[in-house]
Amino acid sequence: MIPIKNKEGIAGMRDACRVAADVLAKMRALAAPGISTYDLDQEAKKLIEGYGARSACFNYRTSRGQRAYPAYTCISVNEEVVHGIGSIKRILRPGDIVSLDVVVEYRGWIGDNATTARIGATAPEVDRLLKITEAALYHGIECAKVGNRIGDISHAIQTFVEGNGFSVVRDMVGHGVGRSMHEEPQIPNFGRKGTGEKIRPGMTLAIEPMVNMGVHRIETLSDGWTIVAADRKPSAHFEHTVLTTETGPEILTIPTA
Ligand code: MF3
Ligand code: CO
Repeated sequence: MIPIKNKEGIAGMRDACRVAADVLAKMRALAAPGISTYDLDQEAKKLIEGYGARSACFNYRTSRGQRAYPAYTCISVNEEVVHGIGSIKRILRPGDIVSLDVVVEYRGWIGDNATTARIGATAPEVDRLLKITEAALYHGIECAKVGNRIGDISHAIQTFVEGNGFSVVRDMVGHGVGRSMHEEPQIPNFGRKGTGEKIRPGMTLAIEPMVNMGVHRIETLSDGWTIVAADRKPSAHFEHTVLTTETGPEILTIPTA
């Protein structure tokens, strides 16, 4: 069952998503040559706590037995797709790209969003990877309309990305989000039109294309978390939490500060 949020739930999600978006925007502004991923993560921790929120990532486990996530945000550099551990001291250098993923819990509700930033000047093909991934997110969001199905979102993202010569990661998916970080439904970034659950008003969906410049296959590093592109080519990730309404999708993770 896909949880449907009532008025209070929607208000709670709005607040949590605003915090997540503000933290992400501020973190993005700090991402520049010379800063380490550790420092970025520590800054994010302070920002999150300043809002009276907490990181939903810290200590998170995706399955029983998995090592608890040891950082406050996910910071993934270049060939790292997602779940790069922000507590590792990697210095960002010109030409790098860095995906920042901020998930906060605020007053019992969770907001989830991600962006990929350029560090200094990057190669033209890398710039294109970022542009296409972000545009794919918006194409997906446009399909999050009442009466459509989840597969319509998936299909829009996949056809746009592949039409532009890149590949979508298949082993990681977007998801419903609310009282917990991962709720039904799963939202793959590939799929067929007209398949999957029907979209109804009051769903809160984390739509998150992960796009590889090379092959779609991924591997997990020995730290148990960091996901990398199997061919070690660059990868990008953009994510918003979206509320479905009778009048269309509404992006909740828009920064205000
Ligand atoms: N936004 C990611 C997700 O939706 C981040 C969570 S992974 C965590 O899965 F371990 F850091 F929590
Ligand atoms: Co997510």
